[in-house]
Amino acid sequence: MARPKIALIGAGQIGGTLAHLAAMKELGDVVLFDIAEGIPEGKALDIAESGPAEGFDAALKGTSDYADIAGADVCIVTAGVPRKPGMSRDDLLGINLKVMKAVGEGIAANAPNAFVICITNPLDAMVWALREFSGLPHEKVCGMAGVLDSARFRHFLSLEFGVSMKDVSAFVLGGHGDTMVPLVRYSTVAGVPLPDLVDMGWTTKDKIDAIVQRTRDGGAEIVGLLKSGSAFYAPATSAIEMAEAYLKDQKRVLPCAAWCDGVLNLKGLYVGVPTVIGAGGIERILDIKMTKDEAAMFDHSVDAVKGLVEACKGIDETLA
Ligand code: APR
Repeated sequence: MARPKIALIGAGQIGGTLAHLAAMKELGDVVLFDIAEGIPEGKALDIAESGPAEGFDAALKGTSDYADIAGADVCIVTAGVPRKPGMSRDDLLGINLKVMKAVGEGIAANAPNAFVICITNPLDAMVWALREFSGLPHEKVCGMAGVLDSARFRHFLSLEFGVSMKDVSAFVLGGHGDTMVPLVRYSTVAGVPLPDLVDMGWTTKDKIDAIVQRTRDGGAEIVGLLKSGSAFYAPATSAIEMAEAYLKDQKRVLPCAAWCDGVLNLKGLYVGVPTVIGAGGIERILDIKMTKDEAAMFDHSVDAVKGLVEACKGIDETLA
């Protein structure tokens, strides 16, 4: 049987890391696409040359021709510009919207059956625009944010408790931005919810509040340290987890930016929610119950995403 084909649109920091991870995990053959001359070819060759020592079987190709992504099973989109210190994700809107148009049309023409994972920021608005420009089914287009945000939350919690990250699960809802909603009640250590751990004296509410805020600011913390560019190792790893769930029909329960129409009181919006990812793409959305406070935070986040979608419509009238 032929190996799956994974197209990576954007061969920058995240794109290159995605290619390396996909090859090392033998998820399929990899096509790296970018408009920057020589970059996709150079990275593809460099990673291919790591194959003998690493011992993986995967073909890697770099290209600037959309025809080379033909028939891709998965497309992961990182094309666009990342943040610089002092910029919010929303500052990227105008530039990256134009990029989503080109990418959406390229995918529609060459890989219309692919499962598409968008990473480009501002995430929730860009995944919406990419779906609109590509015309692919909503369940086959999603955005990577929740896996990364909850990974950051899990990492910080594991440091606080001095336990393995493997035993910490975390739940993050809403848009990928300052309004994201880390749900403390649904976040656990080996099944024990965080409020119970406060009662047990393992931590304090103030410390949990600080960790929630650090999670919200997780991307900015990395941008501030790197000075040029934004995070790429953890974003790439998170998207690979989602791609693997699709390719292997794992039915993983993963938070991601999914099309919500008739769930969580939403009528047609991409926003971060818990989903089931399998061979059908986004197969299901968990229509969870929220407390009044949680619902208020979620609504605030939803309003922020709606504002960005409206801004996109103002920039490109074909989206209105
Ligand atoms: N088509 C294809 N590739 C493009 C296009 C386009 N129209 N426009 C830009 N690119 C490429 C750039 O040439 C660059 O190689 O996208 C790549 C982006 O890579 P980086 O600048 O290294 O950015 P990266 O850190 O990978 O982040 C990409 O993901 O997390 C988000 O905010 C981040 O929006 C940013 C995206």
